[in-house]
Amino acid sequence: MSPNTLMTIGQQFSRRSWAEPWKIKMVEPLNMITRDDREKALAEAGYNTFLLRSDDVYIDLLTDSGTGAMSDRQWAGMMLGDEAYAGSRNFYHLEAAIQKFYGYKYIVPTHQGRGAEHLISQAVIKKGQYVPGNMYFTTTRLHQELAGGIFVDVIIDEAHDPQILHKFKGNIDLDKLESLIKREGAENIAYVSVAGTVNMAGGQPVSMANIKAVRKLADHHGIKVFLDATRLVENAFFIQEREDGYENRSIAEILLEFCSYSHGAWMSAKKDSLVNIGGWLAVDDRELFEELRNLVVVYEGLHTYGGLAGRDLEAMAIGIAESVQDEHIQSRIGQVRYLGELLTTWGIPIVHPVGGHAIFLDAKAFYPHLEQIKFPAQTLAAELYLDSGIRSMERGIASAGRNAKTGDHNYPKLELTRLTIPRRVYTQAHMDVVAESVRAAYETRDQTRGLKMVYEPKYLRFFQARFERL
Ligand code: F0G
Repeated sequence: MSPNTLMTIGQQFSRRSWAEPWKIKMVEPLNMITRDDREKALAEAGYNTFLLRSDDVYIDLLTDSGTGAMSDRQWAGMMLGDEAYAGSRNFYHLEAAIQKFYGYKYIVPTHQGRGAEHLISQAVIKKGQYVPGNMYFTTTRLHQELAGGIFVDVIIDEAHDPQILHKFKGNIDLDKLESLIKREGAENIAYVSVAGTVNMAGGQPVSMANIKAVRKLADHHGIKVFLDATRLVENAFFIQEREDGYENRSIAEILLEFCSYSHGAWMSAKKDSLVNIGGWLAVDDRELFEELRNLVVVYEGLHTYGGLAGRDLEAMAIGIAESVQDEHIQSRIGQVRYLGELLTTWGIPIVHPVGGHAIFLDAKAFYPHLEQIKFPAQTLAAELYLDSGIRSMERGIASAGRNAKTGDHNYPKLELTRLTIPRRVYTQAHMDVVAESVRAAYETRDQTRGLKMVYEPKYLRFFQARFERL
């Protein structure tokens, strides 16, 4: 496969091959309000899509987190919740599912991903230590920083360019990693933080060769490797599609092998695992497990429920098994690509190659006349909502926050608006409506003036910041 043209990667599927391996049993009506009402709702929300009420949203592409549709099996599992405070049978089902599909020995459930990020960061980062990772994620980096760590981005340079075609844009740059270790000393590295399908880079995968090499380098220096497994099943799909020697391996086999190169993982099960709430932390080291088990009772709940109900644990256990089915993940990514290909055909600038969970509109290219301090990606999210009631999310300067030392804005190279596709929720016709709305915003792009931030929270500002029109 040669990535010569923009479309090459991602056109591997014929339309037939990704049709959903399920049919619809229950529907939830959508609401569409008038443009005047959307204008009012957006102003009230301070031009921040996080502050809109979902009743005012038509197609909700804010996030793929906790927004998926559960299967009839998962709903049936909810009825089998064992709500014992301690030792719920559903915990043991979850433990068995994680051991079987992810391969780790010791499991700590948490209420969601950031609960797990908090525990692992507190347990393994010493103040002043560096945490190299393949691009930052908002909550991950914040927990690393709150534990006294210093995040260092060691992703390959290609990841910061929306147009460069690379099969594994989420890869770690081994030279960057090695020079950090040499410069700071292995004892000053807390661990290597590797995320599968890198969210902020556009859902870009990491190759098996790369994780193997990272582990080898880390072993050489006595450093541990921990995974953010949030979208690792989607990562396994790209390995199966693109990496030599994996085309005939199942998603489940690839996932298990990938995890085997790490010492543990944290998980937001609200993504890959097809549940509305849940997460976990898993490690192979008994001593570290003891420490995490100590912490979980302080911050989340007893070590057999971690802030979740028994029924949530059951839905997660079933969701994990469904998530690794090859035909599920093919249709999941097939739908994302369908939207990406439509937009590309119409000349709309998006991140290439199309990644796993979302289409990322390149707001810098969309609005070349807006400087980054005018929040182009936030502006585009606002414009899409006004046009059609579609809700998207900013992944640019607002999300990047401020430099912990200097207090200046971080100016990320990528200034993106994310159209995130929930799992098993919307149809291909919804994707058509979304693409048409993006095209409408593109046609009127010259009239857009940008936003200024008028309220800025201290942590994770993008969630609650307020803006005004310029
Ligand atoms: N890691 C990654 C890669 C994520 O994308 C997220 C959440 C988390 C960790 C934290 O997990 O939300 O369960 O606490 N991402 C969501 C998103 C919020 O919209 O991308 P959480």
